Amino acid sequence: MKTIVHYFTGSGNTGRAASRIGRRLGEAGHAVELRYVDTSSVPPREVPDLTVVAYPTYSWAAPSLVRRYAKKLPPGNGSRAAVFTTRGGSCDPGREGGFAGQGLEEMERILRRRGYDVTLTGDAGYPDTWVQAVNPPSGEEAEAILSRGDAAADAFAQALLEGRRSLYRCGAFHTAWSRTVAELFRGPGRRMMGKTFIADFRCTGCGVCARACPAFNITLEGAGGRPRWGLRCEDCCRCFNACPEKAVQTSPLLLLIHLASFIALTAVWVKSLGFFSSRPFLRKHRALAVLLTLKTAPATAIALFLFQLVALDGLLFRLTGKESLSMLFSWSYTRPFTRYRAPGYKLPLRK
Ligand SMILES: Cc1cc2nc3c(=O)[nH]c(=O)nc-3n(C[C@H](O)[C@H](O)[C@H](O)COP(=O)(O)O)c2cc1C
Ligand code: SF4
Ligand code: SF4
Repeated sequence: MKTIVHYFTGSGNTGRAASRIGRRLGEAGHAVELRYVDTSSVPPREVPDLTVVAYPTYSWAAPSLVRRYAKKLPPGNGSRAAVFTTRGGSCDPGREGGFAGQGLEEMERILRRRGYDVTLTGDAGYPDTWVQAVNPPSGEEAEAILSRGDAAADAFAQALLEGRRSLYRCGAFHTAWSRTVAELFRGPGRRMMGKTFIADFRCTGCGVCARACPAFNITLEGAGGRPRWGLRCEDCCRCFNACPEKAVQTSPLLLLIHLASFIALTAVWVKSLGFFSSRPFLRKHRALAVLLTLKTAPATAIALFLFQLVALDGLLFRLTGKESLSMLFSWSYTRPFTRYRAPGYKLPLRK
């Protein structure tokens, strides 16, 4: 049986799990192809007997790049498919819990629309890699979580081999809130979080972060090769975890400035919604005022958001480059954090 496992991984957890699933299926006689996905990946034209899509849960959904990729998979014509996600549970006492949210169901729908017969969706808890919020586990704690995650990945492979039908459902309540947060994350959230990364004084300009980024989101600027984070960030945190100097930090000051600006610009946007209905002529033509408001509101929101992420960010990048201010901007609670890479998986690094 020909099987393709399409997977994306930020810091290696999903890569490790996908490799295990592939190996298990291979041992049982499947001809397995593992396909790593980044923003430049083009899906194959062939449709195998079994398609597996594996991704890490980011903000209770699949990363945007995985959703875009899955939507371009060739028509499934009723062939079998399965979806697998890894998650991390910083809030749980055992820290391996996590919550996949509505992401599995969302990916299941995408594949169904492409014509696949999705028979299995499942997840596994792995060490949390969201370094903007948590210090990833290390040592024995990480090993214990990893071995439980591996067991769940093996169980998923076993269920595939047995042809079991089981589809994860998180319920209407959890779907409602996790979908809302997921939409906010995939629009402004992940881009804004990407803008809070900064390279501190330890940066040597080696370029590993840029070569590792799956979204081609980091450029090296100036003679010293100072990393600059762009607008395409998936917030996978690989740059943070891959830097050999541990120089990448989350800057609380940048986070604060971006958050404050986001709130201020949202207030400006809300105020702008009343622009047409306050015009003397349109006061008498309410329906026209509402129509014009609805037509212009999305463009105004995008313009304001771009102002924040392009104009304000340009200014901040110049300021963070000034010697007198760089220490202030790069001070961070993330300095002592573990740089986590899933053992047994080599992160892809472009030449
Ligand atoms: C930006 C971001 C958001 C995350 N959101 C969630 C989440 O909503 N629920 C969860 O259980 N884990 C969440 N995690 C944890 C990851 O899903 C988990 O660590 C995963 O195994 C990472 O896999 P990877 O190394 O393949 O990227 C998040 C991690 C990151 C980086
Ligand atoms: S990987 Fe680290 S040291 Fe190398 S350029 Fe990026 S931030 Fe600087
Ligand atoms: S910039 Fe960093 S966090 Fe964003 S996509 Fe690239 S590697 Fe991931």
